[in-house]
Amino acid sequence: MVNQDDLKRQVAEAALDYVVPGTIIGVGTGSTANMFIDALAGIKNRIEGTVASSEATAERLRGHGIMVFELNEVDSLSVYIDGADEADAGLNLIKGGGGALTREKIVAACSEKFVCIADQSKKVDVLGKFPLPIEVIPMARSYIAREMVKRGGEPVWREDFVTDNGNQIIDVHGLQIIDPKGLEAELDHLPGVVTNGLFALRPADTLLLATPDGVETLKAAQ
Ligand code: A5P
Repeated sequence: MVNQDDLKRQVAEAALDYVVPGTIIGVGTGSTANMFIDALAGIKNRIEGTVASSEATAERLRGHGIMVFELNEVDSLSVYIDGADEADAGLNLIKGGGGALTREKIVAACSEKFVCIADQSKKVDVLGKFPLPIEVIPMARSYIAREMVKRGGEPVWREDFVTDNGNQIIDVHGLQIIDPKGLEAELDHLPGVVTNGLFALRPADTLLLATPDGVETLKAAQ
């Protein structure tokens, strides 16, 4: 049986083919992104540098001697490479299991291309089995939780966790997300929501999916 870490490592290494030489790239957060960072260290001289989607990622990049820029210092990013918690056939994603969803969404928005890297366990028919993370301004937490109950969810406060932006996270269980774009837009309009973990309005462009038979390349179904 193939080990999940081996699959993550395979897909992380496959993502090196998407690194555009001489440019600044966006780098995601999480265990798969960490393996990508470790692989990137081997070709760090081919890029100008990176923008990190979390403090943890910035620290890991710097630990490998890879240049990290502030997003405000750069005009655009050639590619954003990051993991996901779930992905559907349209390459809509749930992200934020590691709590970095807001910075991830900002960096993805600034990138010409978004390459998502994941092992096969992340591919689903309908998003929502993985609890949907929502970053909230602390005083809005209970209000947003009540709003999610109205929408059929079971919100759970991620206690003892503070985001890099000083906010809190609610993980919403029990959703079956049949309209990811619609729900993403709707939740973003609730006062107090900083970001929700749906990446559907700006989905991945390419999903590299590690399977025991190799890495599959998926494009969004039109
Ligand atoms: C971080 O906030 C998340 O969006 C990660 O991209 C996601 O949780 C995937 O993480 P793993 O690669 O550790 O599964």
